[in-house]
Amino acid sequence: MGMRILGIETSCDETALALLEASGPLAAPKFRTLKNIVSSQIAVHKPFGGVVPTLAKREHIKNLPKIFDNLRLKTNDLKLDAIAVTVGPGLEPALWAGIEFARALHAELKVKNPDLKLIGVNHLEGHLYSFLLPKKTGIPNSELRISNVFPAIALIVSGGHTILLKMDSMTKWKKLGETLDDAVGEAFDKVARMLSLPYPGGPEIQRLAEKGNPDVIPFPRPMLRHKSYNFSYSGLKTSVLYYLRDNSDVLRSRNSDSAKGGRRSPRVTKADVAASFQAAALEPLVAKAARAAMEFKARSIILSGGVAANRALRKKLQVESKKLKVNFLAPPMDFNTDNAVMIAAAGYMGHLRKKKRKLAANGGMGI
Ligand code: KG4
Ligand code: ZN
Repeated sequence: MGMRILGIETSCDETALALLEASGPLAAPKFRTLKNIVSSQIAVHKPFGGVVPTLAKREHIKNLPKIFDNLRLKTNDLKLDAIAVTVGPGLEPALWAGIEFARALHAELKVKNPDLKLIGVNHLEGHLYSFLLPKKTGIPNSELRISNVFPAIALIVSGGHTILLKMDSMTKWKKLGETLDDAVGEAFDKVARMLSLPYPGGPEIQRLAEKGNPDVIPFPRPMLRHKSYNFSYSGLKTSVLYYLRDNSDVLRSRNSDSAKGGRRSPRVTKADVAASFQAAALEPLVAKAARAAMEFKARSIILSGGVAANRALRKKLQVESKKLKVNFLAPPMDFNTDNAVMIAAAGYMGHLRKKKRKLAANGGMGI
């Protein structure tokens, strides 16, 4: 028997609700998205250049009932088996907004539906399982040949995390390494700020990098040669800062400058800085995922998290996977950044695993 799960995600700056139909065993779950709503708070946080936790909480509290009413209106029969809500990691005030909403809704609906479950979900497990999600609403995911997936090397890259895992099954994994300081997405966001690009910086850097030359500035490749599977991004961020301090003409450059004749134009453009930074940031991710895949004789490399939306990263991992003859699995484009479909899916997996999580915000929760 399948389950209908309402997913709720408020760990950062997206207020997201989703309705997911889930069935099948842990080794081969079947998912069908019925509704997927993501309300971004980008406009609210933009003037501050980053997410302000108390503002995020206020916006979540304001938006959750509106989004839920909208979802209820558009769903002729909102019969639920479970409510799955993110309990961590993330910004605690923001997480509490989702948890309190989920608790109140659960109490209200339980009157008529005594079997309704309330499941606490680890946000990182949401990302981890997002490769299983179907591309389109209304259409189930295709049968995944699990025999081709494990052992797998999973790379979770987001605004808060940079983690490499070895997965032996859908429920058993071991952390191989993680960032020792900043997360890779955070580095994208901070470098974007240095280049006066709007928040969130990842997609902006990607866009600009596609117009630049990645070989112009030899930024350091943090931890690339280090034998551990850890990462580090604060040194790279500082290198970009120093480069821009010592070459301030770059910030006044236009992307078209190098093409212009006549007046003297700077040789290096902002696009070259973005491209050189992006190449330096991605290389250790790709190299270490590939090295781990070889060491552990993996059958696949699984990518997830907001930075998984980066086209250059996907391309490089795809090429590397082909060389290594392993499968490359990544979420459909809509499910890289935060969403509630992945939370509902991870809630289903947690339910099958009989995993009980405290319904309280845990900002520093690990995987
Ligand atoms: O998973 P996510 O939505 O939130 C967290 O759990 O942190 O990830 C957001 C991060 C931000 O740092 C954002 O700049 C980055 O993902 N990001 C990207 C791209 N799209 C989003 N980074 C690089 N390239 C992108 N295309
Ligand atoms: Zn996330």
